[in-house]
Amino acid sequence: MSSIPEDYQFNQKHLLGLADYSKEDILYVLEQAKTFREILDRPVPKIPTLRDKTIVNLFYENSTRTRLSFELAQKRMGADVVNFSASTSSTKKGESLKDTIRNISSMKIDMVVCRHESPGVPNFLTQCVDASILNAGDGAHEHPTQALLDMFTMQQIHPDLTGKKIAIIGDISHSRVVRSNIMGLVKIGAEVVICGPKTFMPKFIEQMGCTISYNLEETLAWCDIAMALRIQLERQDHTPGLFPSLREYHDLFGIRMEHLEKYPDFKIMHPGPINRGVELESDVADSDRAVILDQVTNGVAVRMAVLYLLSGGNRV
Ligand code: CP
Repeated sequence: MSSIPEDYQFNQKHLLGLADYSKEDILYVLEQAKTFREILDRPVPKIPTLRDKTIVNLFYENSTRTRLSFELAQKRMGADVVNFSASTSSTKKGESLKDTIRNISSMKIDMVVCRHESPGVPNFLTQCVDASILNAGDGAHEHPTQALLDMFTMQQIHPDLTGKKIAIIGDISHSRVVRSNIMGLVKIGAEVVICGPKTFMPKFIEQMGCTISYNLEETLAWCDIAMALRIQLERQDHTPGLFPSLREYHDLFGIRMEHLEKYPDFKIMHPGPINRGVELESDVADSDRAVILDQVTNGVAVRMAVLYLLSGGNRV
């Protein structure tokens, strides 16, 4: 905890994005998450910390890892949990987001975990209800708990990330994961290179404090950790033809077994879901250089820490 001042206090009510969190806030969440990670290894991995809290998981977009790990984190901590899925709700009858959240809030909800395809929806929810709002991914804007679990996993490899070389490779322009990771990693002092085809590079992204590379070989030779991002085919409807084919993408930017042999030091991460044979050769995803399933396990601990802190907890 040496980087966190003695008089530091966590004062956040929401987690809308890492843009709003200071270096100390981020390091504090990661520090707290270590305790929750240890709790997950206990024979009975449960603590009653949130037993007086009611939480709704409001998912307007598909999810496996984020939704299940939030729910597991909430249940491990004894919260009352209700799950809302847009596809089976009155949204299908035309009910607005504002009416939906205000009706749910009338059932005395303390916290809302929200995933939505539109950037800014979690922020909008803070204006509709009094509950704490946690962003579980809003369009291509932010996915803060993913970045926190990614940083936690990186710390398991390199406990001090100051000056560590992190490469993020792939579909940068459609990725909320990359935006939250760049903001978090730059704040805590890591060096970030983003790598991918020119057609996947948003304008002015280097103003976030990262460097751009279009060369996978150079990037892998440089980095301590390489995080591959999913090619988000479902978000490319408006801009078809960003690359000629998945096969060509894999040939130019896919991480393959030959790279692991050539560059023996870097570890591999991926937020999931993986397009096997596109971002990663299938054997790479299953290799002992990959920490992809560690990311998923750590996601539960990190989300426990965030829920705990936002519910008013101070120290575990
Ligand atoms: N990493 C991630 O957000 O995965 P899901 O879409 O399955 O939640």
